[in-house]
Amino acid sequence: MNPIVAPFPAARLRRTRVSPAVRALVRENTLDVGDLIWPVFVRSGEGIEEPVPSMPGVMRRSVDRIVDAAAEAHALGIGAMCLFPYTGLEERTEDCEGAWDPDNHANRAIRAIKSRFPDLAVMTDVALDTYNINGHDGFVEDGIIVNDRTVDALVRMALAQAEAGADIIGPSDMMDGRIGAIRNALEAQGHSDVMILSYAAKYASAYYGPFRDAVGASGALTGDKKTYQMDPSNADEALRLVARDLAEGADMVMVKPGQPYLDICRRVKDTFGAPTFAYQVSGEFAMIKAAAQNGWIDEERVMMESLMGFKRAGCDGVLTYFAPAAARLLNGG
Ligand code: PBG
Repeated sequence: MNPIVAPFPAARLRRTRVSPAVRALVRENTLDVGDLIWPVFVRSGEGIEEPVPSMPGVMRRSVDRIVDAAAEAHALGIGAMCLFPYTGLEERTEDCEGAWDPDNHANRAIRAIKSRFPDLAVMTDVALDTYNINGHDGFVEDGIIVNDRTVDALVRMALAQAEAGADIIGPSDMMDGRIGAIRNALEAQGHSDVMILSYAAKYASAYYGPFRDAVGASGALTGDKKTYQMDPSNADEALRLVARDLAEGADMVMVKPGQPYLDICRRVKDTFGAPTFAYQVSGEFAMIKAAAQNGWIDEERVMMESLMGFKRAGCDGVLTYFAPAAARLLNGG
């Protein structure tokens, strides 16, 4: 026998894994239905629920059907819903006026949800891509995505959402200075309680493919978004963006996509201690769905494991298309 090695293991970590009760005792993180934000797609029309082909089980819903979805979210105890407008090419223009139309279908959906379920938090999307003829999040002039003129439009868009009753404004556009400009306008217009969840660290990601399908941007987008969304190689830059957005008045910050960027979630939480969210984006969702449909993975278990990963990485909550499915499981099936 090797005299250097003790006869018994000094620590038997398997002891605290022996049974479900003991595992529950030593469990470090939990996932709660209140941690979930459910992103949904709203379109024009009535009585419409049309499937998004690249996102199995996800629908584009007309406003009346969005209210049905809100009823479901409310019954399940989901913390918030996030509305993304789907627009056909015929609804898009170069000037993006639709974005701040108080009666666009996203704003009508906010009013409809808040009148029925006032305590369900409604989050919005602030970016021009779904109203822009070329699919970019900002105005395009001579092939350049211009910053400051875009920020003025984003402010108008955010104000229209706040007027409609939105609780959380979600700028996803990555223009510089938009958080401060929106915060200022909200204060000036009497919306000091409306929160801003900044998409602070948003990467130029291939994982957004199915989403662009869902909002009708796939055919519309010319070029890529690399001059405003982050380079996936960078991490320190994410901390600078979060510091800047918090200083400008963001109440909460987001890392997006989620699973490939868990290191960023952890660093953001450790550095700032601010409410931190991850977006489990369309491509992450589609990958799990596709593998599960092939019988290659267990969908429910991978879903719950992926969501717990965000909590373990320091996130307070997660935007996920799995929100209703996860909530049903958390509520006991
Ligand atoms: C655009 C926006 C995107 C997503 C949310 N807002 C796509 C993009 O930046 O091109 C992606 C969400 C997802 O993939 O689920 N403002």
